[in-house]
Amino acid sequence: MKKDFLSIQDLSLEEIYEIFELADELRNIWREKKGEVFSYQPLQGKTLALIFDKPSTRTRVSFEVAAYHLGAHPVFLSAQDIHLGKSESLEDTARVISKYVDAVVIRTFGQEKVEKFAAFSDVPVINALSDLLHPCQALSDYYTLYRRKKLNQNIKFSYVGDGNNVCHSLILGAAKLKVNLIVATPEKYKPKPFILKEIKEMQDKIKITQDPKLAVDGADVIYTDVWVSMGQEKEKKEKKEIFRPYQVNSSLLSLAKPDALVMHCLPAHRGEEITDEVIDGKNSIVLEQAENRLHIQKALLVKLMKG
Ligand code: CP
Ligand code: NVA
Repeated sequence: MKKDFLSIQDLSLEEIYEIFELADELRNIWREKKGEVFSYQPLQGKTLALIFDKPSTRTRVSFEVAAYHLGAHPVFLSAQDIHLGKSESLEDTARVISKYVDAVVIRTFGQEKVEKFAAFSDVPVINALSDLLHPCQALSDYYTLYRRKKLNQNIKFSYVGDGNNVCHSLILGAAKLKVNLIVATPEKYKPKPFILKEIKEMQDKIKITQDPKLAVDGADVIYTDVWVSMGQEKEKKEKKEIFRPYQVNSSLLSLAKPDALVMHCLPAHRGEEITDEVIDGKNSIVLEQAENRLHIQKALLVKLMKG
């Protein structure tokens, strides 16, 4: 039976660690033996469709490169290129595309669209970001913490900013990986209640507050994301006001442990949710996070497509 990756919850803990271990091997080949990058091609002869309804730098490029290295052929389709939900129903597009390719990566607006596409597709579907979730990002970010030996029950992981798609997937990942996560958002922009309901048996590990200082006090890791996500541009003026106290700047960072790691999924809106001095500073690991998207997505593609 095909396996989709629409949310972190679609993977067991054991599967997550298998993906991390394979990503380590692939990272090693990429970093140490670039010339041998084509030596491991378990997806030879396969094809991967990449359907993007929103812009993307990291996700698109890392999936395309990942497919190429693994021997698969990527086919990129922007919303303008295909009929998806406009002159053809989503169901029909999913049924047809899955007759040609071996897996589909999709980035769109509603999570229900991703789920409907998966329901009508014969091949694995990967959620490359919806308004609700960004599971590839969270999987990769927890891999970054795993590599940094910070993926254990003793760390304090703080998320400061909008209770959005990235935050939701980090919450679901924290529940699965038993990470102490504290999320600080304005009341109006807290994570969706049903996400918190999903993880209710883990509530003692995941705390929600409106106080960014409390969240980062003594933190090992501080994570933030844009205040205005793709598709929310109309809310920009209001959000910039409400979120001002949630900016990750030197003053907020000074409350965390001196060696705290600063994370951001990127793209960053510098001067809004994070200042230049922090994102470019010694605590920042944002480029390491971005690179790991390649390794983790390679491992994910192998896991879902090899069978
Ligand atoms: N972090 C991330 O998903 O970036 P892109 O929007 O550039 O893909
Ligand atoms: N929350 C951001 C994440 C971008 C990777 C957005 O949805 O635009």
